[in-house]
Amino acid sequence: MRCLVTGGTGFLGSVLVRRLRERGHDVTVASRSRGQDVTRVPTLEPSFREVQVVFHLAALVQSRPGPFLRVNVDGLRNVLELARRHRVARLVHVSSFTVFGPSGDGVHTEERIPDRNRFFHGYDRSKYEAFRLADRWKGRLPMNTVFPTVVYGPGPMTEGNLLVRLLRRWKKLRMAALPGRGAPCWNFVYVDDVADALIRCLDADPGEDFVLGGENRTLRDLWATFRRVANEPIVPLGLPDGLFRAAARLEDWSARLRRKSPLLVPSTAEFFLRNWRFSSGKARAHLGYSPRSLEEGLIRTNRWLES
Ligand SMILES: NC(=O)c1ccc[n+]([C@@H]2O[C@H](COP(=O)([O-])OP(=O)(O)OC[C@H]3O[C@@H](n4cnc5c(N)ncnc54)[C@H](OP(=O)(O)O)[C@@H]3O)[C@@H](O)[C@H]2O)c1
Repeated sequence: MRCLVTGGTGFLGSVLVRRLRERGHDVTVASRSRGQDVTRVPTLEPSFREVQVVFHLAALVQSRPGPFLRVNVDGLRNVLELARRHRVARLVHVSSFTVFGPSGDGVHTEERIPDRNRFFHGYDRSKYEAFRLADRWKGRLPMNTVFPTVVYGPGPMTEGNLLVRLLRRWKKLRMAALPGRGAPCWNFVYVDDVADALIRCLDADPGEDFVLGGENRTLRDLWATFRRVANEPIVPLGLPDGLFRAAARLEDWSARLRRKSPLLVPSTAEFFLRNWRFSSGKARAHLGYSPRSLEEGLIRTNRWLES
């Protein structure tokens, strides 16, 4: 099939492109570094010619302030309109777990997406607005929306690959700073599992949405599992919330001085301190989705980091 992958040069996108090509699909990539900008239709439209399937992943994913609404919401609107104009047979829209907001003591499923008007950051606001926009387009386009959780694994070390950047730092310092004393529970998913599920969406009924996650594990569990698979004496440092927020300010300043992208800034620190528990039961039942364990994913990631 002729596929277009917007954001195909990014962390998740580059793995998706590889998996599509391995299956014999003809893939076109659209991203700014290739000359296409989702906010500028004339640069994007030629990529839609004769395309049957569009995977829309392009997004501004960063902790610093930026034009999130313009890229992530207006950019999606452009993609939806072009997909309709060019009569694509299927659009797979990659949303985000952040759309749901923190799970508290519960577990999120795609059955109920809370109405939100409070956000931590421009990124989660824009992904929420984009999800609402895609939802309004249901019925006008054969489309699926997916919600990956925290994606990790070998691939470009963009800000989207936050977890592996964090693990790399833990390895280097032989110390793991654990927000909320390691108690927050997140959901981690290996990048290849998400990419494969995106391809499986092509056989799903249009209009169906799927959470694509892996295991729910506390940050302390993540540290313990990684220390075991990396076989390194990484010491845990459980930080109370106040100290972790102060560390985020320090990280922000120090990254500015070093002209590097920070691992966290004060507004993204709030994500770290919350629970993000998800169930992927629907994807398992409808897509035959079977994500690997956190341990297996970390073994592969660690091997890649070492190589
Ligand atoms: N990583 C995660 O944990 C995670 C979790 C849930 C959902 N997601 C979603 O998955 C998707 C991919 O994320 P990622 O982690 O792979 O992020 P990433 O590595 O930052 O990749 C983003 C991609 O979007 C492209 N892009 C950015 N602005 C663009 C623009 N104006 N026009 C065209 N292309 C643009 C980038 O390429 P250029 O810079 O060359 O333009 C890059 O290819 C995003 O929609 C994200 O919200 C990610």
